[in-house]
Amino acid sequence: MNIKKIDAFQIYDSRGFPTVEVEVTLDNGVTGYGLVPSGASTGQFEALELRDGDKNRFRGKSVFKAIDNIRKEIAPSLIGFPVTDMKSIDMKLIELDGTNNKSRLGANATLGVSMACARAAANFRGVSLFEYLGKGQGHLLPLNEIQILGGGAHANWAIDIQDFLIIAVGAKSYQETLEMTFNIYHAAGEIMRSRGKSVGLADEGGWWPDFSSNEEPFEVLLEAIRMAGYEAGKDIAISLDIAASDLFDGRVYHLKKDGVSYTPKEFCELMISWCNKYPIISIEDPFADTDYESWRAFTEQVGGRVQVIGDDLFTTNIDRIKNGIENRLANAVLIKLNQIGTVSETISAIEMTQSAGWLPVVSARSGETEDAFIAHLAVATNAGQLKVGSFSRSERMVKWNEVLRIERILGNRANFIGGELYRRILTD
Ligand code: PGA
Ligand code: ZN
Repeated sequence: MNIKKIDAFQIYDSRGFPTVEVEVTLDNGVTGYGLVPSGASTGQFEALELRDGDKNRFRGKSVFKAIDNIRKEIAPSLIGFPVTDMKSIDMKLIELDGTNNKSRLGANATLGVSMACARAAANFRGVSLFEYLGKGQGHLLPLNEIQILGGGAHANWAIDIQDFLIIAVGAKSYQETLEMTFNIYHAAGEIMRSRGKSVGLADEGGWWPDFSSNEEPFEVLLEAIRMAGYEAGKDIAISLDIAASDLFDGRVYHLKKDGVSYTPKEFCELMISWCNKYPIISIEDPFADTDYESWRAFTEQVGGRVQVIGDDLFTTNIDRIKNGIENRLANAVLIKLNQIGTVSETISAIEMTQSAGWLPVVSARSGETEDAFIAHLAVATNAGQLKVGSFSRSERMVKWNEVLRIERILGNRANFIGGELYRRILTD
């Protein structure tokens, strides 16, 4: 079944910023769409998101050039292609772009087309997207990593740390992870209200971080876990995304809220001390994407008991992940489709991560859409973990809810191993 038509449109993401929607139509009239997300605390090694930069329109953020590239360059080259040949379609996109970071056509252009083709192919086959992407081998429902308190670039730097999240390591089912999250998210809201700190939500739906220090959120989080009737460390573990590339000036790390700067060695000690003091099971981007020495030292010391995730460090890029594996920089990889710009490359990044015995975490961006593609990707690849921001706002909930639907479709083929997953990497 061949591609008959590819069209693209400007739509708007969860921050109200322009983004790309692609629609692919096949010879038999079957269609597929893809909606492209967008980050705020982006890594310097990510594929390029093409924006028009016209200060007089959409504050420079419109994506009409990317849409033009889809209509004028990509569509003519892909019309007539068999839609189920995902690898060849994505190879063609890479070849057409011709750069090593999708900077000519834009990763938002290539990804939109890649996602829409995958979905059209699944629709043509009459199967769910996860069945198509996983060739019928995907059955593992993910353990969720869910933000309770936002921060950093997603909350106007009210505090420096970007994400305070929870992982329901004691949950016996996917549904239970959501129930436990519900209880804690709302307990945290109640605590924030009772302290006069309920002043809204951050970009990914977590409570706005109206705190006087970077450590105060731990106290609220631990109290919320208690209030909801759970034991921290046993039922619920804490997870952090430091997004430390944003804190590093090439020499020192700044925690502005606390008025303290740290050398890389001191910052590494601080991160280790937090891991010792709080029930932290997972920590993402504790160091900048160029501070390899700290990554390696930290992983050597705590990697046996804490999941160490590279996000900006790896940018879903196979070469960077390979280097990380060889140099033992982490033990897990955050996976974001638009960091690399095609579905096939994203799946290859997941496979490389898994083949090294590391854990992938399929992730949304801070600027999201109503597309639940990543829920399917997580199950298709048996990634085991999904990170989508908080437990509010429909661009987040659409992903959590989609996994519930996938669970129903899988029926007794569905598998959930919860916190057991970490046995694969945590040996201490
Ligand atoms: P971003 O944040 O989408 O703004 O990059 C998400 C993350 O850092 O994981
Ligand atoms: Zn991150």
